[in-house]
Amino acid sequence: MNTIGVLTSGGDAPGMNAAIRAVVRTSIYNNLRIMGIKQGYNGLINGNIYEMNISSVADIIHRGGTMLKTARCDEFTTEAGREKAMTVLKVFGIDGLVVIGGNGSLKGARELSKLGFPTIGIPGTIDNDLGYTDFTIGFDTAINTVIDAIGKIRDTSTSHGRANIIEVMGRHCGDIALYSGLAGGAESIIVPEEGFHIEEVCKRLIQSKNRGKLHSIILLAEGVGNIGNAYELGDEIQKYTDIDTRVTILGHLQRGGSPTAFDRIIASKMGAKAVEILMEGKTSRALGIKSNKVFDMDIEEALSVENKFDTETYELTKILSI
Ligand code: F6P
Repeated sequence: MNTIGVLTSGGDAPGMNAAIRAVVRTSIYNNLRIMGIKQGYNGLINGNIYEMNISSVADIIHRGGTMLKTARCDEFTTEAGREKAMTVLKVFGIDGLVVIGGNGSLKGARELSKLGFPTIGIPGTIDNDLGYTDFTIGFDTAINTVIDAIGKIRDTSTSHGRANIIEVMGRHCGDIALYSGLAGGAESIIVPEEGFHIEEVCKRLIQSKNRGKLHSIILLAEGVGNIGNAYELGDEIQKYTDIDTRVTILGHLQRGGSPTAFDRIIASKMGAKAVEILMEGKTSRALGIKSNKVFDMDIEEALSVENKFDTETYELTKILSI
């Protein structure tokens, strides 16, 4: 192993920069050449690649986003696109690749591995939707952003005696809603993994209003189907309860911001480990974190682990919000 390439792909996540920094610095420490690939698989196919050095990653550990930029690349999902990528890797003399991204990005890493190219995947997404790992880089920062927003919305909710729906990201996964709802003391949490009855949400709202509670926070995960959109849900709730209801969609706010210490730490550990295992000659691996320990496993196997929703914590949120 002489030259390693690194790219970030898919939706950006706070902490990606810390992971890039760790990949770059661990490579240089071990006398390897390190190439930054810009704009994910797009940059790989188009040769948007440059050599990095120690200072390339100075002053980035605390910054959100990704200094290598990112993209969602349709061309790479085709065989022709991947063949092009293989040629570019050869032209640039890259002999090992680290891919930092979510589900789709790790699938891309798996495909390159299948073509025989040594590739390691690092989980970077705010969604926390990869079942093989306890945490993905960016999730902790995102839920901290959400609880900050919940606190602010609760202030105005209390002043007006309203119900406030807060819609959060997560694609098909309810983890952002669940954990920020628990930490933010939400009255109701609506996630795609659990059945949802509007009557139950309304009953809870009316009960807490009758008890003299002045605010109500309803956390809604974006992936919940069959309720129309957040505004339609707000209209329904207002109709059934007669409680003035407002909606806030947090959107891309959740993707930015300075990463938390936790995200910086797991990103740094995984970035370093990716280089170490490439040097050991391992390929086709995905990195993860379990019981506070970074581990690697076969990427195909990792991607086939079902993402289990934490129903125990979900039940706890119901008890704590009575
Ligand atoms: O996967 C991260 C994520 O932020 C999801 O939570 C969300 O559904 C999606 O990306 C939004 O993607 P985009 O930024 O491309 O609109």
